[in-house]
Amino acid sequence: MFPEQRPRRLRTTPAMRRMVSETTLRPRQLILPMFVGEGLDAPRPIASMPGVVQHTRDTLRKAAVEAVHAGVGGIMLFGVPEKRDAQGSGAVDENGILNVALRDLRSELGDSTVLMADTCLDEFTDHGHCGVLDADGVVDNDATLRLYAEMGVAQAEAGAHVLGPSGMMDGQVGVIRRALDEVGHSETAILAYSVKYASAFYGPFREAVDSQLKGDRKTYQQDLGNAREALRELELDLAEGADMVMVKPALSYLDIIKAAAEFSPVPVAAYNISGEYAMVEAAAANGWIERERTVLEVLTSIRRAGADLILTYWAAEAAAWLD
Ligand code: PBG
Repeated sequence: MFPEQRPRRLRTTPAMRRMVSETTLRPRQLILPMFVGEGLDAPRPIASMPGVVQHTRDTLRKAAVEAVHAGVGGIMLFGVPEKRDAQGSGAVDENGILNVALRDLRSELGDSTVLMADTCLDEFTDHGHCGVLDADGVVDNDATLRLYAEMGVAQAEAGAHVLGPSGMMDGQVGVIRRALDEVGHSETAILAYSVKYASAFYGPFREAVDSQLKGDRKTYQQDLGNAREALRELELDLAEGADMVMVKPALSYLDIIKAAAEFSPVPVAAYNISGEYAMVEAAAANGWIERERTVLEVLTSIRRAGADLILTYWAAEAAAWLD
């Protein structure tokens, strides 16, 4: 009755388990998304994302320095403007909040971290869509591309090392790449949000950026039942010059992350998004799960699926735990 095969042997001690562990989770693999609000006197808490705030320019600088000291691989910055309009003009304005804050962070941090910017109009438009609308109220792909090109150049000039086009317009990577190269920013990299699903898990993010969106993004973000389309999006972005690609959200899309990791010749990032964060925080606050163990399990699972990099609101805290 004695089994010859005993997998438990490799689980006997912490040293044994550490030695045979397949998946690494290191601080440098974590990227911290941060929010900066225009005209704030004090950081503004985001109720659905406990522990995450809209920073003032000043607290952003301090928190970014702390995150870099904790060892995070990079920072992804989102701006929340005071005023919005139909064209999202604050996005291309060099004095717009996101561009101003990028300048602050680049002068504070130099090249000690990787500074990334969200290249998308939704925080800046009064209708909350990721692009401009045509006469029928439909998001106009090609008119939006022209603005993304301008926005990307403004962000590169403000000091972003990496641009993250997240609006799911067709051709966005190619247009931004060409615009950057034309003005001499051939060193600025593009982390393409290549695979982005129309997810309910973005809910808390909409609060985080005071989104004005009514309706949904289903005419540009992907249908959650589709997997093949993800590879097509990846292929197009790679052909257009993406330096890194992203899958978003992460937890309900681990199969897609795995497929992307097998397919992609460039680094693959996954975005552990606001709703995924909120669920864990809410359950932990109720004492229903152990917070730190759960967070590390979430992050490890995304790495195990094949993501090289993880954008996560826990980046700084988890980096400190892992150190
Ligand atoms: C678009 C953008 C969104 C997120 C990142 N970039 C919102 C959306 O597509 O609705 C969501 C991130 C999150 O939920 O944590 N600028």
